[in-house]
Amino acid sequence: MSRRVLITGGAGFIGSHTCIVLLEAGYDLLVLDNFSNSSPEALARVASLADVPLDGQQLQIKRGDIRDPITLDELFSAAAASGRPFEAVIHFAGLKAVGESVEKPLFYWDVNVAGSRTLLAAMDAHACRTLVFSSSATVYGYPETVPILESAPIQPINPYGFSKAAVEQMLADLNSGTPNTWRIASLRYFNPVGAHPSGQIGEDPLGIPNNLFPFVSQVAVGRRAQLRVFGSDWPTHDGTGVRDYVHVMDLAEGHKAALETLLSQGPQHLTCNLGSGDGASVLDVVNAFSAASGQGIPYALVDRRPGDAAVTIADPSRAADILQWRTKRTLTDICRDGWAWQRANPMGYRQSE
Ligand code: NAD
Ligand code: UD1
Repeated sequence: MSRRVLITGGAGFIGSHTCIVLLEAGYDLLVLDNFSNSSPEALARVASLADVPLDGQQLQIKRGDIRDPITLDELFSAAAASGRPFEAVIHFAGLKAVGESVEKPLFYWDVNVAGSRTLLAAMDAHACRTLVFSSSATVYGYPETVPILESAPIQPINPYGFSKAAVEQMLADLNSGTPNTWRIASLRYFNPVGAHPSGQIGEDPLGIPNNLFPFVSQVAVGRRAQLRVFGSDWPTHDGTGVRDYVHVMDLAEGHKAALETLLSQGPQHLTCNLGSGDGASVLDVVNAFSAASGQGIPYALVDRRPGDAAVTIADPSRAADILQWRTKRTLTDICRDGWAWQRANPMGYRQSE
């Protein structure tokens, strides 16, 4: 019988790609999502790409909120009663916009921290104690050294980062307070980008994108006139900020590797960077995307963005050692697949702005 996994936030950018990888590996999934930052259409496309029925046994869908203990209790109870309990949870559901987290800190503490606590309580009550958690390299704040090891200081610089660090701390406390019970992986993603190579699913930000990749691809497709490059006087090879961009399909495979590591090993709390170990500057990205799309990417050099670091690059060796995972896809692959998605879906999953 297939292993069954609960995926919170599975309609979102990283969740939808991870669903495909897990469905293709034979897992049965139930996606819990409130669609606050995603579209049910993403799951329809996941089902089609993975060649499974929509809302059938392999890919069930439940609209609901991770902060609602009744919904969670009903889901776990129904799964147990059907004889197909969840063996694990992959927890993507959360909010991720740094600027919004500064404006609405209580909202971020509610969804990201209280929501995770509610989920953990339901998991515990139903004896499902295997969890893969979406953390972020944002917990490192301004890194003191690069590449960044998992042992680097945790020093967030905004409410979003604090919310991720708080959940990591909650998971660490759970692991030390109830040793030999929980199997937990906290995955610290670097910069997730790109799309499924089919071009049918990808990142679909609401409104004006804050992040570089979706902005560049919207300039390439003609939705935005010009990119603003935040700072050209950073201490980097061309003066623009350097990041560790990870293809979302590599990231999806990282979740499968983490899940299978937890299921095959004993209780633990594992913390891993998911990054490539390579850095690309803003202008490297502009040039690579322009080459992949055949479109010019007009840009203007402007002041630095408050809160940015010059360089963030993962040391990905722990993930390689423990999860047997490393990135396989290059910046060229990222731009090709990101462009395939953007060109075929200029407005994302919506028909208009
Ligand atoms: P996303 O917004 O595309 O996906 C999150 C999903 O969670 C969405 O489908 C949204 O509708 C859902 N959701 C939000 N609040 C919910 C709630 N209360 N109950 C149920 N569902 C809810 O984001 P993503 O890029 O796929 O990120 C997934 C996770 O990874 C998030 O926790 C995010 O903080 C983390 N992360 C993302 C990045 C990134 O750059 N994309 C980097 C590091 C970490
Ligand atoms: C940002 C968040 C980080 C979060 C991550 C998710 C900030 C300060 N940091 O990281 O907490 O975990 O997204 O992926 O918001 N850039 C431009 N022009 C743009 C957009 C970005 O020049 O319009 C530059 C930035 O200055 C940076 C690089 O592109 O040098 C990457 O930016 P972005 O995609 O926003 O990611 P991060 O800053 O790494």
